[in-house]
Amino acid sequence: MSSTALITGASKGLGAEFARLFASKNVNLILVARSEKELNELKDELENRFNISVWTIAKDLTIPENVQAVYDEIKRAGTEVDYLVNNAGFGDFGYFADTEWERHRKMIELNISTLSQFCHLFIQDWIPRKSGKILNVASTAAFQPGPGMSVYFASKAYVANFSQAIAYEFRKYGITVTTLCPGPVKTNFGRAARMNHPNGFLKDMKTPLPEEVVSFGYRAMMKGKALAIHGVLNKFVASSVRFLPRKWLATLSAKVISW
Ligand SMILES: NC(=O)c1ccc[n+]([C@@H]2O[C@H](COP(=O)([O-])OP(=O)(O)OC[C@H]3O[C@@H](n4cnc5c(N)ncnc54)[C@H](OP(=O)(O)O)[C@@H]3O)[C@@H](O)[C@H]2O)c1
Repeated sequence: MSSTALITGASKGLGAEFARLFASKNVNLILVARSEKELNELKDELENRFNISVWTIAKDLTIPENVQAVYDEIKRAGTEVDYLVNNAGFGDFGYFADTEWERHRKMIELNISTLSQFCHLFIQDWIPRKSGKILNVASTAAFQPGPGMSVYFASKAYVANFSQAIAYEFRKYGITVTTLCPGPVKTNFGRAARMNHPNGFLKDMKTPLPEEVVSFGYRAMMKGKALAIHGVLNKFVASSVRFLPRKWLATLSAKVISW
């Protein structure tokens, strides 16, 4: 029997690559993001290349009612979701006092509330059947405070801690939760976070291809790993920061992020 993956933030970037990878494994897809046109172009591409069905739902997931509405639509259609990829997220570059609160409020809604609510909705369906896999996209930002992107870094710390906690809780039901922590990847993320300053820290950085990060995350999810940090250097940094005095972390991080 064919299975189905729900992928949020699937119109571009890592989410679109997740869609391509799941499609290549003959998994049917439910793709959610705001950009209807991009979602439909991806649907056409994937349905032409693979023997799967792709359902697109264009919704703004910073609006709390839309999360429940997506879930209700899926239930009404009688579709069972087997894989949940909570990938939609964005950041905002700039010192907290200089940035708009509304952007932060939406970021917290999307990066934290939407991700948590989808987990909460699907776990209720998965407990009786004792199966289901979740991949929550955090970031290497999760491991330290981030002056210049304070709310984003904190939101990803939430994702990592929340996801590892529920991974522990859900083990007894045979349900796995994987936290994927990519380092910088060139997608639309930088533009969405308004990081296009000429000296922005991503500018000259050699970064992995989105496909590499996605394939790494996918393999970790299938193995049911709780934490997947992409890249040797990122793993090293994420483990070393644990041994540094907390008071140094914001200063070190500020030097990397700011221009
Ligand atoms: N790229 C990096 O360097 C990097 C590093 C670490 C972690 N991450 C994380 O990876 C995830 C994917 O990011 P990306 O790099 O692929 O960025 P991206 O290219 O900007 O893609 C973000 C996706 O999220 C969707 N999205 C944004 N706001 C949304 C909203 N209000 N409602 C529904 N969907 C929304 C976007 O679609 P629409 O615009 O069509 O809505 C898009 O599909 C994010 O959680 C990000 O924090 C990225």
